Amino acid sequence: MQKIIGPYLLLEATEDDIWEVMKVNEVTLPEHYTPEFYMEIYENFPDGFLVVKLNGKIVGYEMNRLEHGLSNFGFSFVKKGHVVSIAVLEDHRNKGLGTALLNESMRKMKENGCSEAYLEVRISNEPAIRLYKKLGFAVIRTIPYYYSDGESAYVMAKKL
Ligand code: COA
Repeated sequence: MQKIIGPYLLLEATEDDIWEVMKVNEVTLPEHYTPEFYMEIYENFPDGFLVVKLNGKIVGYEMNRLEHGLSNFGFSFVKKGHVVSIAVLEDHRNKGLGTALLNESMRKMKENGCSEAYLEVRISNEPAIRLYKKLGFAVIRTIPYYYSDGESAYVMAKKL
């Protein structure tokens, strides 16, 4: 899969991309992970590990996990897609790249049998919350002190 978004290219990551994804994560989010964690996510759902490139350089990524568990919408056991991390380098924001990443990952989640998608987001992260709401995610609950600095998270979910 390759999608052209203006000068950008949206495509599945390869193992070789993970190092550069880690660098984008380091400058965009306070939550960082070990290389083993990225590999574990990659191996769980390689098709759902997406990058956006500009002239071969990664400017955004989204990584997702396929999970089985309780639905966010009722008492049933479902397959669901977990948006583990998404980020776009500051200079490349507000160009539709976050929207394109999420739309593509949700398409792949559905293709892989997921009936819903969910994620956690800092309650102060207005740009991200606005984007998720625009794409049909709703706040399901709040998890107090979810982040290591004590900030709470919203769990947001969407039926696919
Ligand atoms: N031209 C101009 N603006 C556009 C556009 C286009 N072609 N396409 C979309 N937009 C607007 C959207 O409508 C949206 O505006 P709105 O919020 O007023 O509705 C805004 O641009 C952002 O959407 P988009 O461009 O798709 O997202 P993005 O590429 O800027 O990425 C994040 C969004 C959240 C990934 C980005 O802000 C980011 O990396 N933040 C830091 C990391 C982070 O917080 N990640 C989420 C953790 S849960």
